[in-house]
Amino acid sequence: MRAGICGRSMSRRVDGGKSGGMDEKGLVARYAGRLPRYTSYPTAPNFTEAVTGETYLEWLGALAEGASLSLYLHVPFCDRLCLYCGCTTQVVRQDAPRRAYAKELGRELCLVAGAIGRRAAVSHIHWGGGTPSTLPADCLVAIMDLIRTLFAVESGAEVAIELDPTAVPEDRMAALPRMGITRASLGVQDFDAAVQKAIGREQSYEETAACAEGLRKIGVRSLNLDLMYGLPHQTEESVARTAREVLGLEADRLAVFGYAHVPWMKRHQALLPEAALPGPEARFGQRGAVDRVLCEEGGYRAVGLDHYARPGDAMALAAADGRLGRGFQGYTTDRAEVLIGIGASAIGSLPQGYVQNAAVTPAWLKAIRAGRPATVRGVALTEEDRLRRDVIERIMCELAADLPALAAAHEAEAGPLLAAAAPLAGFAEDGLVRWDGRRLKVTEKGRPFVRNVAALFDAYLARGEGVRHSLAV
Ligand SMILES: C[S@@+](CC[C@H](N)C(=O)[O-])C[C@H]1O[C@@H](n2cnc3c(N)ncnc32)[C@H](O)[C@@H]1O
Ligand code: SF4
Repeated sequence: MRAGICGRSMSRRVDGGKSGGMDEKGLVARYAGRLPRYTSYPTAPNFTEAVTGETYLEWLGALAEGASLSLYLHVPFCDRLCLYCGCTTQVVRQDAPRRAYAKELGRELCLVAGAIGRRAAVSHIHWGGGTPSTLPADCLVAIMDLIRTLFAVESGAEVAIELDPTAVPEDRMAALPRMGITRASLGVQDFDAAVQKAIGREQSYEETAACAEGLRKIGVRSLNLDLMYGLPHQTEESVARTAREVLGLEADRLAVFGYAHVPWMKRHQALLPEAALPGPEARFGQRGAVDRVLCEEGGYRAVGLDHYARPGDAMALAAADGRLGRGFQGYTTDRAEVLIGIGASAIGSLPQGYVQNAAVTPAWLKAIRAGRPATVRGVALTEEDRLRRDVIERIMCELAADLPALAAAHEAEAGPLLAAAAPLAGFAEDGLVRWDGRRLKVTEKGRPFVRNVAALFDAYLARGEGVRHSLAV
C-alpha cells in the first residue's frame, strides 16, 4: 500500500468519500492559513536578543562530556539568484570574498571548539546554503581537514552537501571525495521550460543527470533531489511530468517543497509573475500529483510533510520506527543532541536552547574577526517549551503523538496539552486525524495538513501577531 495522499478518486474527494466527507476545495479553504514549518520549536521568529554571544559561550562550555555533535556550515553565496529563493544567499562571483568567508568559517570552528574545551565527537556534518560549492576547492578541503583536527569525526559520520547541478566545476567535483562527502542534495525544482524561464533558473535534465552520474562515480553513496510546486505556470500535469522525469535519476530521497512566497522578506520574489502563481487549491492538486507519481510509479514512501524515500533508505526506516528527527534542514536521521551552526545566519540547537548568528555576512565577519561569537538572537528553552517541542516533533515526524505519555516523560501535567487538542474533534470530523482523547494519529488524508495539527500545540503562535509565515498548503 503506497503512502502519501494516495487513494484519491477522480471525483476530487480526497479520501474517495469514505471518511469526513469534505471535498478538496472545502478542506483547502478551511486549512490553508499561514503556518510555520516547525523546523524548530519555539520557531525562529520567537528568538530574541536576550540570548547573546556570552550565553552561547556559557552553553558550549557546559555541554556534557559524551555529547555527540552535528555541524552545519552555511555558505551564503550562489552563482545565480533564482527568483523564488527563500534561502539566505547572494550572488558573489569574485574569488576574494569567497576565500575571506572560508577563512572566517575556520576561525568560527576554532572558537567553538575552544569554548567546548575538548575534542568533541561529531556524527554528522552538513554543508548548506546558498551553494557551498561556490567556495574554492582548496578552501572546502582545508575546512574539512580543520574539522577533523578540532573534532573527533566518527568513522561512520554522514557528511552531506547541497549542490546546484549547474555549478559543480571539475575541481569541486574532485574535492568532494577529499572532503569525505557521503550524501549530496541537488536542487532540481522543475524541468518545464516555461516554469524555468519564469523563475530564472535554467537547468536541463541532461546536466542534472550528468551531475548525479558524476557524484555516483566518485563514490557519493546517497543522493537527494529537491522539487518544488506552487511556482508560476506550474500545473498538475507539468509537475507530474517533472516528477516522472526525475524518477530516471534514481534518487534515494526527494524533498518536495511548496513554494513559500514571502516577498516582504525576500524582495527578489516580487520579480516573479504573481498572476501566474497557483492558488491554494491548485497548489494542493500539484502536491497530490507529485505524490502520486513518486509513490505509485516510483515506489517511494512518503516521509513526514514533504519528503520521500526509497523503502530501504535510512530515512524511510527511521520514519517507520520512530527515529526520524526534524531540524533546520528539514527531516533528518541525525539524532545528535547538539547542533552547532557555523556561518552567517546559521542556527545552533543546544540542550539549553537555540542560538542564531548574524544573518548579514559583513556583520557575521566582523564578529568572528574580532574573536567573538556572531550570535544575535536565540531562545533559552523552558520546561514547557521542551514538552511542546517533543509533541510537535513527533507530530511532524511520526504523524502521531500520545499526549499523556509525552507529558509523563517530561514529568508534566497533560491538562494543557489536552486543552490545546480540543480542535482535534473538528479535524477528526474532516477525516484528517484519528483522536481518542489521548492519542492522535494524522491520517493519510491529513498528511498535507500536518502543520495545522502541530500548530495546535504552539503556545507562541497566538502571541505571534505580525509574524507572517508561508502558506500551510
Ligand atoms: C540551498 S538550495 C539547494 C542547493 C542549491 N543552491 C540549488 O539551488 O540547487 C535549497 C532548496 O530550498 C528550496 N527552496 C528555495 N527557496 C524556496 C522557497 N521560497 N520555498 C520553498 N522552497 C524553497 C529549493 O528546493 C532548493 O533546492
Ligand atoms: S535556489 Fe539554490 S542556487 Fe538558487 S538562489 Fe537559492 S540557494 Fe542559490
